[in-house]
Amino acid sequence: MGLLIQNGTVVTADKTTAASVLIEGEIIREVRARIDPRGHTVVDAAGMLILPGGIDAHTHLDMPFGGTTSADDFETGTRAAAIGGTTTIVDFAIQARGTKMRDALDTWWKKAEGKACIDYGLHMIVTDLGASGLEDMDDMVREGVASFKLFMAYPGVLMVDDATIFKALQQTAKNGALICMHAENGSVIDVIVQQALAEGKTAPIYHALTRPTVAEAEAVQRAIAMAEMAGAPVYIVHLSSEDALNQVREARDRGLPAFAETCPQYLLLSLEETMNHNSFEDAKWVFTPPLREKRNQPKLWDGLKDDHLQVVSTDHCPFCFADQKILGVNDFTKIPNGGPGIENRMQLIHHHGVNEGKISLNRFVEITATAPARIFGMYPKKGTVAPGSDADLVIWDPKAEHIISAKTHNMRVDYSMFEGFRVRGNAKQVYSRGELIVENGKYLGKPGRGSYLRRAARGGAWQ
Ligand code: URP
Ligand code: ZN
Ligand code: ZN
Repeated sequence: MGLLIQNGTVVTADKTTAASVLIEGEIIREVRARIDPRGHTVVDAAGMLILPGGIDAHTHLDMPFGGTTSADDFETGTRAAAIGGTTTIVDFAIQARGTKMRDALDTWWKKAEGKACIDYGLHMIVTDLGASGLEDMDDMVREGVASFKLFMAYPGVLMVDDATIFKALQQTAKNGALICMHAENGSVIDVIVQQALAEGKTAPIYHALTRPTVAEAEAVQRAIAMAEMAGAPVYIVHLSSEDALNQVREARDRGLPAFAETCPQYLLLSLEETMNHNSFEDAKWVFTPPLREKRNQPKLWDGLKDDHLQVVSTDHCPFCFADQKILGVNDFTKIPNGGPGIENRMQLIHHHGVNEGKISLNRFVEITATAPARIFGMYPKKGTVAPGSDADLVIWDPKAEHIISAKTHNMRVDYSMFEGFRVRGNAKQVYSRGELIVENGKYLGKPGRGSYLRRAARGGAWQ
């Protein structure tokens, strides 16, 4: 006796088919044109799309940062994700300088325990290789932490030098893990920032104006060059500009295993249209890299269509405006960097990508689920609709209308970056390992039902 979803249209990264999906326990057993319903519980998905659950490969839940902690914890953040059609996240544990990565892993497992509503993996943020950091990285890979984030920005906080980056890249060339790079030239940006402050430029807009796109492009170029010398792949996180994209495209054209993600905020919001309040309100969009000029947006969309960019994730890092963003009211450098988005990624990319004809439905599935599953060692357990895969499925109503608003969203944050955006297409039902966890915008599961995902290192099979 299984659960049979019938009359729907199954969409994967490579095909769209009228098919039924049979779930037994936590697993998809069959995907076929006709499956005999006798003996099964039947769900009618007429008029609906059946998608693999979304995978958000870049979130920051319960993260200490900028003198405070991100506002969503593993319960509120993963619940909001599920409601928006995301069934897996990959969050970040942070190695404190001078400590073992295992301590950070234990800390983040505890943060998620009893709270995670969907399955989650962890990247490790490396701040210090010390005496045993390279062995620590291998230890993490054995624990299913198949990716590491390194920062070329935030000097004095998270930034590491090129020697550390290069050694870490060399280690991943051996152990098969992937380095995720926050690529901005932090040292140069710091000089520009100090000069701005000295001139009395303290408003939130100066966060954006002190981080030029060339500082991003230079770091992307350097990251890729170091990866090439190390013989390792590299994944650029939250890529925001045409200048940076050009570096990734050029590397990929040369056949290098360079990958990159962008985020809805860079595709849909801009410096001139969004950060135009001329007041502290602009702090709602202070994140790093910052919003860019609107002319970058079509280039990023084209990058997604043409596979110069492989993934859309959110970089969900929410801070409440009233009591957290306000820390920087007199000095933009004290505004906690980050914005909320975990709940709205699938709606926004479906609406502005598929409905507006910028990407196909299959490409939508690929960039929101299949590619992150492949790149981060979860495929085919996650990221597709196929026999043997986890039954992480979204029954997607392509006609459902929704208005994004902080008044109705489920993220624990007092504003929306996309307030008032109207989208068509939304998750109607969400299954996680065969369990119906969301129906019509309501979370039905228990907190803590989500499991830690041990991800596989790719071992060099990148292209
Ligand atoms: O502003 C951002 N992006 N905050 C989160 C940390 C990071 O750099 O990803
Ligand atoms: Zn970053
Ligand atoms: Zn981030």
